[in-house]
Amino acid sequence: MEAQLISNGLRYSTLPLCYVRPEPDRPRPSESAEYENAPVIDLGCGDRQFIVQQIAAACKNYGFFQVINHGVAKETTEKMLEVAGEFFGLPVEEKMKLYSNDPSKTTRLSTSSNPQKEKIHNWRDYLRLHCYPLEKYANEWPSNPPSFKETVGKYCREVRGLGFRLQEAVSEGLGLDKDHINNSLGEQGQHMAINYYPQCPEPELTYGLPAHTDPNTLTILLQEMNVTGLQLLKDGKWLTVRPFPNAFVVNIGDQLQALSNSKYKSTWHRAVVNSHKPRISVASFLCPNNNAIIKAPKQLIEEENASFYREFTYAEYYDKFWSRNLDEGHCLELFKK
Ligand code: OGA
Ligand code: NI
Repeated sequence: MEAQLISNGLRYSTLPLCYVRPEPDRPRPSESAEYENAPVIDLGCGDRQFIVQQIAAACKNYGFFQVINHGVAKETTEKMLEVAGEFFGLPVEEKMKLYSNDPSKTTRLSTSSNPQKEKIHNWRDYLRLHCYPLEKYANEWPSNPPSFKETVGKYCREVRGLGFRLQEAVSEGLGLDKDHINNSLGEQGQHMAINYYPQCPEPELTYGLPAHTDPNTLTILLQEMNVTGLQLLKDGKWLTVRPFPNAFVVNIGDQLQALSNSKYKSTWHRAVVNSHKPRISVASFLCPNNNAIIKAPKQLIEEENASFYREFTYAEYYDKFWSRNLDEGHCLELFKK
């Protein structure tokens, strides 16, 4: 069955077959626990060295962290979530104007992950936007709700600033020049996925998003409070990251794994769904410039004596990523030396 938008106003009483995972590949809620020690880093603490150290430790030991006092205004995140909810609440005919399964489109509404490639679909709709340069893309964005462009534009600008500050701290934590990452990735792209996971009639049979790593450099995720869904893999166990007030979840993507010569690993994560409440999350992806050549710097290769991955451009990586489906394993493996 062809995947269709699931935020369509219908209430499903059973899960359509095309979303049902085979028995060995199901979420098993009884086996996942809460992520008890999920790191929370206070970017407003005033002690930069301490921040750099905490970020380095979190990247090494967890592959992700949460940040508070991050400089993105509370009003900006609140309005972002509000307008996302309004968008997905629009009549399905209105939303379908933006529908496309073509990953090369710079503004599109879609469902699942890669509906034309995958056999089993995921219980998610998502609006995918290119966000940098804003002047180039914002005119393609939805004009309904009327506040969408302004609200999301402001959010994107603030999150980009945070992303750059984080990349500086990550660089320093790797023993590199503060500007190393920002300089070596060229003029960085920025994409966004506004994810909408409707209530699911049989959440134990499917995923909102199956296990994956993000193909970009850093992902900055805003989760709605009072509903969970994000899980990260830690020592073979799937752990739920409960939304922390006024925090973002930051996770390492494949490009940072390559650039750090595998010192930092891109985190395996997934989204599970539930039967009582829809869930919204907003993922901002900082991406290298398409022409940037991704490689580990000398300092990190000398320590390890070899680089794990061959050099590649981000454009090459991104094409490869979208030519597969999320369940096919770690795309970075294909770039090993
Ligand atoms: C993503 C993602 C997790 C979530 O969009 O890549 O992993 O909780 N989202 O929605
Ligand atoms: Ni992800």
